[in-house]
Amino acid sequence: MEKTLRIKTILTEKPVNRDICVQGWLKSKRESKGLSFLDVTDGSSLTGLQVIADESLANFQTDIARLSTGCSIAARGLLVASPAKGQEVELHAREIMVYGWAPPETYPLQKKRHSFEFLRSVAHLRGRTNSLGAVARIRSRLSWAIQQFFQQRGFFQIHTPVITTSDCEGAGEMFTVTSLDLQQLPVIDGAVDFSRDFFGRPASLTVSGQLEAEAYALALGNVYTFGPTFRAENSNTSRHLAEFWMLEPEMAFCDLEGDMDLAEELLKFLISDCLENCAEDMDLFARFIDKNLLAKLDNVLRHEFVRISYSQAVKELEQSGRDFAFPVAWGIDLQSEHERFLAETLYQRPVIVTDYPKTIKPFYMRVNDDGKTVAAMDILFPGIGEIIGGSQREERLELLTARMEEAGIALENYQWYLDLRRFGTVPHAGFGLGFERIIQFVTGMGNIRDVIAFPRTPGSTAV
Ligand code: 4AD
Ligand code: MG
Repeated sequence: MEKTLRIKTILTEKPVNRDICVQGWLKSKRESKGLSFLDVTDGSSLTGLQVIADESLANFQTDIARLSTGCSIAARGLLVASPAKGQEVELHAREIMVYGWAPPETYPLQKKRHSFEFLRSVAHLRGRTNSLGAVARIRSRLSWAIQQFFQQRGFFQIHTPVITTSDCEGAGEMFTVTSLDLQQLPVIDGAVDFSRDFFGRPASLTVSGQLEAEAYALALGNVYTFGPTFRAENSNTSRHLAEFWMLEPEMAFCDLEGDMDLAEELLKFLISDCLENCAEDMDLFARFIDKNLLAKLDNVLRHEFVRISYSQAVKELEQSGRDFAFPVAWGIDLQSEHERFLAETLYQRPVIVTDYPKTIKPFYMRVNDDGKTVAAMDILFPGIGEIIGGSQREERLELLTARMEEAGIALENYQWYLDLRRFGTVPHAGFGLGFERIIQFVTGMGNIRDVIAFPRTPGSTAV
């Protein structure tokens, strides 16, 4: 029996003059003088394998003549060095078996290039296209690279809960999780009686695993959590999803400086890893998606990130002479036009903005000695905006309690979090990396909906 091989293995190892079997989907077919040239892909690599079928095959008229883009097949035969240009090896089929047909009248994907908008409407099939297949492979690689980065540095992965009763970001953008009958809600004093709900109180999908990661950082030292997070914010932009993946490392005995160092090292590691290990897919993005991609990535790798305080950033923006739609003044939250000016126009490389006003940042960030700012850091990338948000955490019980009270947070739900300051508190810091945003940056893909398999956005969960 011949061996079934993945096409990536065939193209790298080139086991010529051997009988092999491949299984995959037809990308395209060309016919010439009693021969059928089939371009077959199995998803293992961007490049497919050329399979040649001739008239002597028993099912040449009945099956092979009917093959069209998207059909699934197995091909057995001899792998040979290709005499023609365009590929190094080709498979001379002795036998071709059809698993499933894909009638061209109804199969949505044809050989031509489709728009990304159209492909979103067939999210369940779009992984078969060159570009979305490449995105999926790069996403998988980046996920693995994240694991490697942290495991090599002695961090432990923590699986933090998806269902939670704490609103980490305090922005109230949570999806409620309930088993109550929405047609017949129990009401008490005019409000829903959550004591009769599944958990006995209101629960939601998590917006961040940070608070739980903090608990384990204060037990294991250095930890990270990496999983889906959910935000019910009505942002219909090319940078926002309602369900996105976030990587959140948390380090005990660490300050903002150490936090920024780790973040910068991580981002550079991830970019280098993709360039080294996904060369073929990266080449596709550099040729068809963003002609400047490799120069942009190289620019990030070669320079140290700029580090400036929020107050300095505001000064730069005020002195820029630009007419921003949102006027700049100390105390405002930086808008995307401001972030773009800093990273794309002024510095033209990643910028870390630190020490934001405490009024625009969540309760857990450590208050600086000036009493007005917090030890926060946002990393702004050219073309992306905020890719990482992080901070040193408030480890002092009195200050944390005061900030939570100011923010109107119900302290009874956060006693466990305050315990971390009551018992053996230590300085600690961490950050959140938007996984889809780093994939966007690495691939040059313009819309975040195209770097996650099944995007969830306001008003839409197609598939
Ligand atoms: O700045 P954020 O809201 O920070 C946190 O959630 C902290 N608890 C993280 C921490 O310190 N452990 O989110 C972190 C990152 C952002 O910088 C952005 O890259 C990404 O998550 N992000 C989103 N990505 C896609 N869609 C959205 N709606 C996003 N919201 C945030
Ligand atoms: Mg943020």
